[in-house]
Amino acid sequence: MLAGKRLLLIIGGGIAAYKALDLIRRLRARGAAVTPVLTRAGSEFVTPLSVAALAGEKVFTDLFDLTDEAEMGHIQLSRSADLVVVAPATADLMAKMAHGHANDLASTLLMATDTPVLLAPAMNVRMWDHPATQRNLATLLGDGLRVVGPNAGDMACGEYGPGRMAEPLEIVAAIEAALGQGPLTGKRVLVTSGPTHEPIDPVRYIANRSSGAQGTAIARALAALGAQVVFITGPADVPPPPGVQVVPVETARQMQQAVEAALPVDAAIFAAAVADWRVASASGSKIKKDASRLPVLEFVENPDILAGVSQHATLRPALVVGFAAETDDVIAHAQAKRARKGCDWIVANDVSPSTGIMGGAENAVHLITPEGCEDWPRMSKQAVADKLAARIAAALTAP
Ligand code: C5P
Repeated sequence: MLAGKRLLLIIGGGIAAYKALDLIRRLRARGAAVTPVLTRAGSEFVTPLSVAALAGEKVFTDLFDLTDEAEMGHIQLSRSADLVVVAPATADLMAKMAHGHANDLASTLLMATDTPVLLAPAMNVRMWDHPATQRNLATLLGDGLRVVGPNAGDMACGEYGPGRMAEPLEIVAAIEAALGQGPLTGKRVLVTSGPTHEPIDPVRYIANRSSGAQGTAIARALAALGAQVVFITGPADVPPPPGVQVVPVETARQMQQAVEAALPVDAAIFAAAVADWRVASASGSKIKKDASRLPVLEFVENPDILAGVSQHATLRPALVVGFAAETDDVIAHAQAKRARKGCDWIVANDVSPSTGIMGGAENAVHLITPEGCEDWPRMSKQAVADKLAARIAAALTAP
């Protein structure tokens, strides 16, 4: 609930501005007061009248409105809120913020505020991926701003990829988390993700097809519920989510060290596809092609990180969740794995090539707990992550 909280909502100029109207409605339903600020470009997409009607408050639109200045100066306006929310945060607004511009009401408020700021970026996928936007994002995260989204999906401009503004309810959850009201606020959670690379020599390695998409989605979902997330990731295809502590690793042994260094945690989610074996004595120099002799690789087993943490003598987290990627007898193998490794839950999925799950956007999982097995319908990896994060929150906050 957000009763008694005051939010300053800056609506930037993008097609996602229409979702800001629904966001205002959701926030007010939870008891928050919303002071809306519409940028000039924002007012090309939604009208001040609709914003004011939904917010039940005056809309601030222009820096040099003398009446507004007399009623409430921009400095005071920027500081009277518990949180400043920018939704949609356009590439232009992010650039202004990252560089300290203050040439309209929105950017001046953002410069003048001493209140925490949450951004919900929305833009064309190429604009989001552009090095300038990614540089600005890194600057803003470094400045301590929080970010929710963007999500991947079909965009209004007809392209596909990251750039869609987070849905209003996701933004509400991020606002609650930013205000210290998320169910996982104060909880520390570690997530492993991605593949590992096991060197053969300095230029060659053994790897697997994990994209890191599911682990990334889980880290994002846990952070949105307020958790402090340590995200330990092998070399993944997808970028890590904003707002988490990223620990990049390459090999299983590096991942094990990073996991041990992150303990103690309240929960540990092992979504990484860790290589089972590594080359026994990786060569320190590039192995030369030799026409008379093929190289023979000898393997040794990697440490089982999940089993090690599940059976940790002193620092076992209250909840340990493993994954089981199988191609046959999925549930039976996963149940046996839960018992063998000593974790609390296993998220099991069928990764046969015909399912398109490995590297794809969707997942169909079974959640195996001491109480039994739940079959979840096929849904996006982010939806699986959100559902799992909600279950983790329920388990960690149960009396
Ligand atoms: O034994 P298997 O690789 O099928 O187990 C999968 C689960 O165990 C996943 O949760 C994975 O992250 C974890 N795992 C691990 N360390 C390993 C192998 C697997 O943490 N060396």
